[in-house]
Amino acid sequence: MNRHLISAADLGRDDALLILDTADELSRVSERSIKKLPTLRGRTVVNLFFEDSTRTRISFEAAAKRLSADVINFSAKGSSVSKGESLKDTALTLQAMGADAVVIRHSASGAPHRLAAWVDGSVVNAGDGTHEHPTQALLDAFTMRRRLGVLDGRRIAIVGDVLHSRVARSNVLLLHTLGAEVTLVAPPTLLPVTVESWPCEVSYDLDSVLPKSDAVMMLRVQKERMNDAFFPSAREYSRRYGLDRDRLARMPEDAIVMHPGPMNRGMEIAAEVADSARSTIVEQVANGVTIRMAVLYLLLGGETQ
Ligand code: NCD
Repeated sequence: MNRHLISAADLGRDDALLILDTADELSRVSERSIKKLPTLRGRTVVNLFFEDSTRTRISFEAAAKRLSADVINFSAKGSSVSKGESLKDTALTLQAMGADAVVIRHSASGAPHRLAAWVDGSVVNAGDGTHEHPTQALLDAFTMRRRLGVLDGRRIAIVGDVLHSRVARSNVLLLHTLGAEVTLVAPPTLLPVTVESWPCEVSYDLDSVLPKSDAVMMLRVQKERMNDAFFPSAREYSRRYGLDRDRLARMPEDAIVMHPGPMNRGMEIAAEVADSARSTIVEQVANGVTIRMAVLYLLLGGETQ
């Protein structure tokens, strides 16, 4: 394994499977009443969040704590970043404090890559701009593997605002590595121009893709990253690309519905679909802790280096 986890492309098939298998073993800890292992005792994990987050931040914190690491939570609000301190100066501060791992979320694509050049510890990308979110892709693959079995040859549809989604890019890369066949479904305005070079198919027609999908991953429409009109209206978007009860009925019987959260209920996904037995949305959150435990465990080695 690399020292850092910045892109899903950093993971070869063996690395990816090692993380998923390690997570399988660690999931037993999460089922116990005492959810703690001494593995990372004495190691320090810093959560550096420059952008809003609920699930990802809490989940990295829980993962590090379950492995007995010391956790420092740093959010840009209330820190010297709001006084204009640069990422580099923040990095040097963390370095001086002896962080063994820095988990970073930042609105700028490429920030984790820059950070990795300035600190000695491992850098884990928890979402950078519209670029990547590798631990989300890992937890999604983990969830799919638990529900569907091996991923080779499985057909996965990723639907919606691909243009602004770091989740989509990381998922396409990782699922391809794991042998799944991915189809992106979106209006042309919500696909990046580079999509042709991605290892996946593209479709504009959700209804034709649904019957052939083992998993359908809905993406949030990321209004905060849109400064233009990308579709005529919310109603029109949801009519063409939203997953409602009728569309759910067109999916194979054992196919699952996924969403990384946070959801716009009623827009990309109907509330009754999000809450249905076919939805793995809550499971994805639980699996997020397990996957992040596996990542921290494998990157930090567990032993004093
Ligand atoms: C995603 C993110 O932040 O990229 N959420 C998450 O990490 N659970 C997706 C999103 O914000 O829509």
